[in-house]
Amino acid sequence: MNRPLVIGNWKMNLDYVEAVHLIQQLGVVLKNKPLEHVDLVVVPPFVDIRSVTSVVESERVALEVGAQHASVHDAGAHTGEVSVSMLQRLNVTWVLVGHSERRAMYAMTDEVVAQTLRTVVRQGLRAVLCVGEELSVREAQNDRDFVTAQLHAALEGLDEKWRPLVTIAYEPVWAIGTGLTASTEQVREMTEHIRTVAASLSLGDVRVLYGGSVNAENAAALVNEGHVDGFLVGGASL
Ligand code: 13P
Repeated sequence: MNRPLVIGNWKMNLDYVEAVHLIQQLGVVLKNKPLEHVDLVVVPPFVDIRSVTSVVESERVALEVGAQHASVHDAGAHTGEVSVSMLQRLNVTWVLVGHSERRAMYAMTDEVVAQTLRTVVRQGLRAVLCVGEELSVREAQNDRDFVTAQLHAALEGLDEKWRPLVTIAYEPVWAIGTGLTASTEQVREMTEHIRTVAASLSLGDVRVLYGGSVNAENAAALVNEGHVDGFLVGGASL
């Protein structure tokens, strides 16, 4: 098994005061826990990052800080966007790329996802490539083909030296924020499929996470029976 990784995606929740409060609480909870065999990441809104990394660094909280998105561009006239180098200056080490909410609500195409992933890894940050199908796609039994296409679009031709910086998160859209977790069988089937496709793209030992209504009650079964390397957690991470 790969080294486990758990990422908390706070989405557009918590202002910087609330974020400081939560990260301080997390610091207390994590103190003296045996964390040497797991990677933990929190992914706050952009405007909270500076405050969160300050607490993480000053109180030595055993986790890293990520961003929910980054611009595909390096700099320039892109109102409202945040560049990878700006994130790097804030000691951000992870970036979510192509979260389904960005794909669906902010018109992030497969092509932009692929380019953003390259922008992230070229600067040495870790990219969490998010893939996953909508309910209609699963009902039509096209879920595997759909995810295969997303993986190919993002990863085909990725330079060998950047591949170790990639993590894949399988987040079926129908399970996000709905309380409808995918069954452990569905998760196992898809994560095995993702590993096969990733191997065919020369990403043999990539970590595969699951996301979609994960919480303290269902996490153990998803690891043990779903064969995932960890989680991308939304609501429960708050
Ligand atoms: P929930 O855990 O709230 O379903 O969100 C999952 C997700 O989208 C994490 O990125």
